[in-house]
Amino acid sequence: MRKQIAAANWKMNLTLQQGEALLDAIISKPHSLQANQQAVFAVPFPYLPMALQKLAGKANVFVAAQNCYSKKSGAYTGEVSVEILQSIGIQYVVLGHSERREYFHESNQLLADKVNICLEYNMLPIFCCGEPLDIREAGTQNDYVAKQLEESLFHLTAAQVQKIVIAYEPIWAIGTGKTASSAQAQEMHAFIRQQLAGKYGAAVADAISILYGGSVKAANAVEIFGQPDVDGGLVGGASLIADEFVAIINALK
Ligand code: PGA
Repeated sequence: MRKQIAAANWKMNLTLQQGEALLDAIISKPHSLQANQQAVFAVPFPYLPMALQKLAGKANVFVAAQNCYSKKSGAYTGEVSVEILQSIGIQYVVLGHSERREYFHESNQLLADKVNICLEYNMLPIFCCGEPLDIREAGTQNDYVAKQLEESLFHLTAAQVQKIVIAYEPIWAIGTGKTASSAQAQEMHAFIRQQLAGKYGAAVADAISILYGGSVKAANAVEIFGQPDVDGGLVGGASLIADEFVAIINALK
């Protein structure tokens, strides 16, 4: 079975002390991760060592960076390379979140470069895609997402693309409390898988986890994760509340 993943995206929230308290609270609550399930915590850069330390030795639990730069090293003040992340023990990086695409002008091409450097260092990308509201209203969301996949991922080999986790996040559902219906999520996830199958074949497409993101919470996680092509979620707001996130972990298939 494909990996089922509950990924917390803390974004630019919480102080160090609040982050520690949140992880302590999550660890202390009963949750069970089966062999095919993972919990991932994408925390702000300065909290990565703290999170690694707190979660050390916990099976199927990973710490992720929320971003990395596309170059190996050098004079890029303020940026963080994959090598730096790898050297402290990080295994996952979120790439191309819609907030980075919008506020920091990350293009499909830049993200292709980031994907490449991650794979070069065996860092696993959680690659975000998804359409804004006007595209959804115009009914062209499939073309929009297909282009994101084509321009950032489809240069990869079949062996490489299987290392990517995809997160479909309709921008109109992020932080708005407006979730895509489980049918809308399933429809897009099936479309993404079909695109992957067209390029790489059905076996490869079947092996790739596709997470849903956008106002996932305890109350809707079972229904959304229950869709056949939804393999868990990338969770913002609800990942900052211990009870909510534990319930989301427990909603994984
Ligand atoms: P949200 O954020 O769960 O607060 O909608 C999801 C995300 O942006 O990853």
